[in-house]
Amino acid sequence: MVALSNEVKDIFTRTKVMPMATASKSGIPNVAPMASIQLVGDDTVWIMDNYMVKTLENLKENPVVALYFYDQESKRCFQIKGSTEVKTSGPEYEKFRNQMKAKSDKYPAKSLIVIKITDVFECTPGKEAGKKVL
Ligand SMILES: Cc1cc2nc3c(=O)[nH]c(=O)nc-3n(C[C@H](O)[C@H](O)[C@H](O)COP(=O)(O)O)c2cc1C
Repeated sequence: MVALSNEVKDIFTRTKVMPMATASKSGIPNVAPMASIQLVGDDTVWIMDNYMVKTLENLKENPVVALYFYDQESKRCFQIKGSTEVKTSGPEYEKFRNQMKAKSDKYPAKSLIVIKITDVFECTPGKEAGKKVL
């Protein structure tokens, strides 16, 4: 696992919606927008499964994920890769579920996707593009 720097954490938490990429076991890619996202500590991301279909199917057979986040203000961009666990019970699931339900009862909050960050890459256009930063 890797610990995000404060700079990367700041940009992450300013980002409202992130594309979440997964792949089936046979390698068919899928990408979907996600907004119910929380950074937990330095190395973990929580995403709430409210409406996931292919994303969840993919994670069950191939538990890896990629996200990117782009900050309009600073023009910085980072990609994160991680390994996932799907939780439908337990204190972490209950905590995030309660937060979602407090926002609105419309959210089904079906499962919690816990992402342990394994790699971070720069995706800002320019000479640092593609560089592994963590
Ligand atoms: C701006 C935006 C934010 C979204 N945030 C979430 C989210 O946090 N969790 C979720 O389960 N679905 C979210 N969705 C809905 C999913 O992207 C949508 O259900 C999509 O079909 C999921 O992809 P999949 O069917 O390939 O799994 C969001 C959609 C939009 C447009």
